[in-house]
Parts: sequence; structure tokens; C-alpha cells
Amino acid sequence: MYNKINIGLIGFGTIGSCVAEVLMERRGLLLKRSGIDFNLSLVCDKDLSSKRGVNIPKSMLTKDADRVINSPDIHIVVELIGGIHPAKEIVMKALSKGKHVVTANKLLLASEGVDILQKAGELNREIYFEASVAGGVPIIKAIREGMVGNRFSSVFGILNGTSNYILSSMSSEGSSFKTALKEAQSKGYAEKLPSLDIKGLDSSHKLAILSLLAFGKRVDLKDIYVEGIEDISNFDIQYAKELGYVVKLLAIAKRYGDELEVRVHPTLLPSEYLLSSVSGAYNAIYIEADLVGKQLFYGLGAGKLPTANAVVSDIVDIGHKIIRGENSAGSVIPKNTEIKRLRKMDEVVTRYYAHFSAIDKPGVLANIADLLGRHNISIASVVQKERSKAHIVPIIMLTHEAKELDMRAALSKINKLAAIKKRSIVIRMEK
Ligand code: HSE
Repeated sequence: MYNKINIGLIGFGTIGSCVAEVLMERRGLLLKRSGIDFNLSLVCDKDLSSKRGVNIPKSMLTKDADRVINSPDIHIVVELIGGIHPAKEIVMKALSKGKHVVTANKLLLASEGVDILQKAGELNREIYFEASVAGGVPIIKAIREGMVGNRFSSVFGILNGTSNYILSSMSSEGSSFKTALKEAQSKGYAEKLPSLDIKGLDSSHKLAILSLLAFGKRVDLKDIYVEGIEDISNFDIQYAKELGYVVKLLAIAKRYGDELEVRVHPTLLPSEYLLSSVSGAYNAIYIEADLVGKQLFYGLGAGKLPTANAVVSDIVDIGHKIIRGENSAGSVIPKNTEIKRLRKMDEVVTRYYAHFSAIDKPGVLANIADLLGRHNISIASVVQKERSKAHIVPIIMLTHEAKELDMRAALSKINKLAAIKKRSIVIRMEK
């Protein structure tokens, strides 16, 4: 039997051209492994003149997305233009025209995912989006299929390759933030707007997608607490290291009964944790669920090859379904979530690393400790460094678990002390 699936690609940028190259170069391999001939038939982009390093015959190129969507021969439309508009309109239109869709668009899925999945379900079409979270790590497949029978209690990890690359370079090479960001950009990890990476927004988009899949909970992006890595200095990375911790940007979703906590922020992790050794552009997702227990998924989370790999894998999955004539079970989202409420950030309980910059004189440490104590915050350890020329000393404290609301109240009072000379730095900890 001869099975041929035609693919229309919309978005011929870095990822799009890599997907095109893989589909063409590995057509024979994919046919051998899947029994399906995946034929790239049309490629659309508004810019058809820039060089991409991949040879596409002119007859296959178009500037008109409608030509791809309306083409009766195309089975799967691959959307790789990014952003919400016109990507949403393209995806919705493609579904209405009976196409199955593959997308890598994390912002689109995080903000409009429920509408899109519902539409796909109603129309009995597939929408796959493995490339939207953690690049080459098949975490979406693992949650939707490999762990489909589980109740999840935690899904968290390192979801932004650029930030992880920056923090790792600062930690191991002593690089400056700026230099490390430039390197991440030159390696093709960063978003067009790198602020999305370093401000934690890209991680929050991915966390919203994982929360929907693992907890069945539609989480509005505005309800995710997000803090980026811009305030993390080489000093704090080094102090943390001396105390046996590393700093990572974590995206965290934790369930407590029928409540869910969703937050993205720099976090101190004990150096011996597996997540702590995830460096460079690598991502890792740690999962706790009732049947599988604890699992860690690890791999390259950014870069064109791992991302193109995820897109191609989705195309092949859909190809199999088309050939078998299956319904769109993969697009169905859980209708009844057990989550009734999202916890407010004020209610979150964590340990804290705090870095106070204080004048070195009698009573300052006691004042800080007193204010923390008055807000129910118990100190686990304190390090005071030697006096510098400026008479400002860094006081580093690790606390026991405390409520965010209490920590904020204590901090605002500490920052007002006459002996405190710079805004205090506070980083949350995971154990
Ligand atoms: N800019 C993203 C990152 C690309 O650094 O992780 C992958 O989504």
C-alpha cells in the first residue's frame, strides 16, 4: 500500500527552514520507519528572498497563506510564524478547512489553547504542539499519552534554554549577564525579543500549556506569578554556590488538593539535585504523579534542530492517525478539572535566600533578625562577609519556610532601615 501525506508549511524562518530541510532530507528515512511518504508540498512566508540554506523549488513557494489552507491536497498545515495574530486566524481557518495542524506557537497555545483545542475536537481534526514546550524533549507526549492515567501533584522545571544558558555561564565561567545573553542569541536560543526569555514570560507560556495538560486547568497568563533573572548577579550566584546551592529559573506548578500554585522565578536549588546539573540550553521537567512517582525529563530545549525534531515527530504522529482513519482523541482536553482555585502568590510558602547590603555597625544584624522574627520568619543560617572599603557588608541569610506575604512585609521594613544601603535581594528556594 502507498500512503502519501502532503504538508503545507506556513512560516519559513529559522525553525521553518529547518523543518523543511529535515522533511526533504529524511523523506526516505521517514518512509522506511513509518510506511508513510511525507511530502512537503507548499511553503509560505511573507519574505521569500532571504537565503535559508535550503533549496525549495520556486513552484513550492508562496506568500499567500490562504493558498496553503485552501489547497485540497494538503493534509497537514504546519504553523511556525509565532505570535497570536495572524497565527490564530491561520490555525482556525486551517482546521475549518479540514486540515490537521502542527504548531510550535507557545504564546498562542498559552493564551488561546482552549479555544483552539475545542475547535479541533469539534471538527475532528488534530492539533499537535510538541515543539511548544522544551524543544526536543517529548514532554507533551509523555503527559498526554505516557502518563495519561496519573493524577499529577507537581510539574516543574527549567523551561527556558536562554535563561538557563545565561545562569550556567555566569556560574561556571563567571561571564557577565550581557555577554552570556549575547552568546545565547548568537546560538539561536533566544526569542526575537529576548526580554521574553529573561523576564520569565516564555517560561510562563510553557507552564500554562503544561498546567492545562497535566491538571486540566486553564490558567490565564496574568494569573501566573512571573519574575525573571535580570536581578541575579554574579555575587549572588557565587554566595549561593558557597552555601551549596545553584540558581535556576524554575517554572513551578504544584497541586495541593483542589488548589494549584503556578509561578516562575529564579530559585535556589541544592547542588546535589539532578535539576541543578542541567546547564546550558538544556531543559528539564520534574514530575510527581501518583502512578509513576517521580520522573525527570531532560534534553535540549532550544535551538532549531531539537525544535524541528518535535515538529516532524508531530507530523508523523498525525500521519499515522490519518492513514488509520482515527478520530482526534489527541486533541481532547480534560473537561472536569479537579482544580477549583489558583493559590495567590501571597499564600505561597517557600524558604528564602536573602542578601542584605548593610553598614557594618553594631546592632544591624540584630535589627534585621528582629524584623524577620516579628513576621514569623525563622533564620536557618547567616553569613556576613568581611567589611569592604565602603563599609557596606553583604549579609546573606537562608530562612526556614515562610509565607510570601510575611516575607514581603518584613522586607519592606528592612529596606527602610537606615543601615540598609541597597535594595535587598531575595531568591526563593526549593528545599
Ligand atoms: N527562547 C526559547 C528558549 C526557545 O530559550 O527556551 C525555545 O522555546
